[in-house]
Amino acid sequence: MWDCLDRHPLAAIAAWNVSETSATGSLEPTFLAGEQHGFDEVVRVHRKIEVDEKFHVGLGRQVLARYAATDDDRNEILRAMRGMHSIASEMFTPSKKAPS
Ligand SMILES: [Fe+2]
Repeated sequence: MWDCLDRHPLAAIAAWNVSETSATGSLEPTFLAGEQHGFDEVVRVHRKIEVDEKFHVGLGRQVLARYAATDDDRNEILRAMRGMHSIASEMFTPSKKAPS
């Protein structure tokens, strides 16, 4: 994401937005696991975080929609989103190898 800042400010926002979106996707499994194991306080706190995260994701989309004006802007945004998607996908995909 920091490398994106050197390329284009909207690229950094795009990378951050994909990261936020990916992190938000981890909340539902947290709720399920917390409820299953009786971590009511963890679930309660994360439900509050969920509201904030929806706002963060929406804010990123609004900034990109407002300030992306040229094809170069849009190409930089897509490039950054694809790069962060690749990172997030690798991070949130369980390894096929058993831990040693
Ligand atoms: Fe956030």
